[in-house]
Parts: sequence; C-alpha cells; structure tokens
Amino acid sequence: MYGGDLLVRGGRVVLPNGVFRADVLILDGRVALIGKDLREEGVEVIDAGGKLVFPGIVDEHVHMREPGLEHKDDFTHGTKAAAAGGVTTVLEMPNTLPPVDSRAVFEEKVRRLSSKAYVDFGLYGVIHNTNLDRFGELVNSGAVGFKVFLGPTTGNIPPPDDGSLYEALLKSARLGVALAFHAENWDLVKYFTGKVRSSGRKDPQAHTDSRPSICEVEAIQKLVLLSRETGGYVHIVHMSAKEGVELVRRARAEGINVTGETCPHYLLLSTEDYSRYGNLVKVNPPVRDRANQEELWRAVNDGTITALGSDHAPHSTEEKSGDVWSSAAGFTGVQTFLPLMLDAALRGLMPITKIPELMAENPARLFRIYPRKGTLVVGGDGDLVVVDPGAETVIRREDLYAKHPITPYIGWRLRGKVMFTVVRGMVVAEEGKVVNGPRGVFVRRGADLGQQP
Ligand code: DOR
Ligand code: ZN
Repeated sequence: MYGGDLLVRGGRVVLPNGVFRADVLILDGRVALIGKDLREEGVEVIDAGGKLVFPGIVDEHVHMREPGLEHKDDFTHGTKAAAAGGVTTVLEMPNTLPPVDSRAVFEEKVRRLSSKAYVDFGLYGVIHNTNLDRFGELVNSGAVGFKVFLGPTTGNIPPPDDGSLYEALLKSARLGVALAFHAENWDLVKYFTGKVRSSGRKDPQAHTDSRPSICEVEAIQKLVLLSRETGGYVHIVHMSAKEGVELVRRARAEGINVTGETCPHYLLLSTEDYSRYGNLVKVNPPVRDRANQEELWRAVNDGTITALGSDHAPHSTEEKSGDVWSSAAGFTGVQTFLPLMLDAALRGLMPITKIPELMAENPARLFRIYPRKGTLVVGGDGDLVVVDPGAETVIRREDLYAKHPITPYIGWRLRGKVMFTVVRGMVVAEEGKVVNGPRGVFVRRGADLGQQP
C-alpha cells in the first residue's frame, strides 16, 4: 500500500497559474483524477464546498534537531507540528549531531527518522571545510541538496574554503544539485559582534546591529560571482536584507542560476518588534527595519524571491531565555508557516497563488522532488491541504506541537484556517489536531511519478 483513497469534492484548487473549481480523486496515495463532478464508490469523501484546496506545502527549511539535539525538539514533535499546520513534506537541514556530511551519517539519519515521520521528508547534506569528496556519495544517497553555512549558526559548522566552494559549485552545475547558502560573512559577523558587545549593550536590537546587512550582502555578492563562473545552483536562504534582494534580482535578470528564499519572520516582524517580544525575535540573520521588510515583500511579488521556508529552529526554554548575547537564535515555525502566509495572502499582501508557487512547487522543483511533490497532477502524490478562507485561526500555545512552544506569534489572530492536511491520500491532521500515527516516508532526490519509496 502506498497511501489512502480519498475524494475531495467541491473545492477551489489553488495552483500557481490560477484557481480552479475541481474535485480531486486520490487512489492508493496518488492523484487518479482531477475534474468536475467526480464520483467513486467506497472512498472517504471530504466536502470542500466553499474551501480552498492547495497542493501539500513543502517546507524546504526546517531544523527538527534529531539526532543529537533532542533537548531542543525532535522529529516526532516537529513532523506532528508540520502536519497540524498543512505542511506535507519537510526538507530537513543537516546541522544535527553529527552533521550530515557523509553517506553513513545520512543513511543513519534516514533510518532513525523513518519510523517517526508524521509527514514525508527529504534530507540535506552539508558541505563544510573537509568533506567536499563526499559530495557524490551524498547525492547518491538521495540528498535533495546541500546546505553550506558561510556564517556562524547553531552547530558552528565551518564553511568550505574558497577553492572547495568553487569546486562544489562546479559539481552542483554538473549534477543539477542545488546548494542552499546561509549567506553571512563569518569574519564580518565576528568583527561587528565584537564591536557591539564591547560597547556593553544588552538591548535586543544589539543583535541586529551585530550582524548588519553588509555581512549578508558581501556573501551574496561572492556567491553570485561564483555561480556566474561555474553555472552552479546557488539558493540564498533566509534573505533579510534589501541590498541582497537587489543583487539576486539583477543576477536573475542576467540569467545566473541564483534563487532566493525568505521566511515569514522577515516579512512579518521587524526591529520595531524588539520592544514587544525582546530576544524571542532573535534569529540569524536578524530581522531588520521596515524598509528592508517592504523590499522583501516587493521581491516576493516580483519573482525575485522564489521560495518561502519556515526556518523552523526550535530551542529549549532555557536556551531561549538568556540575554541578547547568550539566548539562542531561531524559533519554531513549521506549524505557523502556512497559517501566517495564508493570512498575509487573504489580507492582500500577495496573491493567493503565491502560496502553491513559493511554498510547494518551486521548492519541489529546485530540490528535485517535483512533480511527485509540490503540485497536484495525475500520478503525483495525493498531498493536499484544505483551507477555509472564511474562518479564523488564533495561535495558541496549547495548540502547538513543539516540545518548547516558544514563538512571537502566540495570540496572533489570523484570517483563514487549515481544515485538513492530507499526505498520500491519508488525512494526517484535522482542524489543527494530528490524527493517525506516523506514516511519513523518506523522499529521495529525483523521486519520480509512480516511484515507490
Ligand atoms: O537563527 C537561526 N537558527 N538561523 C539559522 O540559520 C540556523 C538556526 C538554528 O539551527 O538554530
Ligand atoms: Zn535555517
């Protein structure tokens, strides 16, 4: 058995190119038919009258912390949170312990997570200063792509030297594998952090001032140049700075293989929120001022930003509660990812079709799991989300599945509500509550239509 049988009837299907009234029939986990007035005997039916039906959300950027950092969170809690929030596939980052830098570690991580997944999952490998020779074996193990940390982050994984970076991008071009970059210049971050810290500041804004835009811009500029030279696929994740947006916009206009991701927190939070939420908002790169935020929205709407990711980065309550320098960067986000962006779309900040484009199709294409994932097409996986645009969601701590449900969004009142999350024809969550056990599977890069896991 690959999945379940399900008929979703009477909804409006939202795809990147438009909104269509259509029924979706899923048989044994795969989309069997999309059309008008479908009937099928003996299958479960969801009445989606008045509702929107999205392809299952692919969150290309999560840190579920397993193995090795389970005091922050684990894959069980993390994928339950995903299911509750309408995310049907997560792409899991490699800064776990040990870092995912070889086939052996990769395969052990797949084994470990497979019995715990409430939604389907793909894994990144990491390229750091000593493992470039593992590139091929990680691709062959099914890695969807690689993460490269140019700046300091949880796990402090050192970046490759410039020669290795160049060669990694040559390999990226040759094999069609995307590299996702944490684009902050490590030396500049150290320099500015030293300066701001030694001034004695402890206010939350000191974090943003210790990682000014130039750290990000320098890294992006270099990556654009390397991509132009090598043809490698450079994906800049968690973009926060307007000058970085401009670099990516120009590079894309020139036909360079550069794509960009931003996250709900850069679109919805700014330095003005430090007074309200304090260090809760601490994240790397940091949130910036309103002018940066406005440029990011422009970039979402003009196609410069090609993807959204939650950068779900949970930490323990203790780790989050230090001062501006000692508190950990990042917070949980996978469960609130779709609700927040749905609200933004329903408030007119972007077209509703940007949701399937930036949160399903583009990530699935870039990380080579399309069209099995990321869209609704006959033969593809029956992953979808039914949303009620007329209902309301209030983010409540007690509804979050994270081990440490810490986020600035508690209490936010949002337009729209996730009603059903469906993975391969199986309902995995209903109105924010996880139903059924862990049935998620590992999705390899290159997974094609009709391929068994
Ligand atoms: O704030 C962050 N936290 N930014 C990152 O890039 C990584 C993440 C983490 O893993 O904690
Ligand atoms: Zn991240």
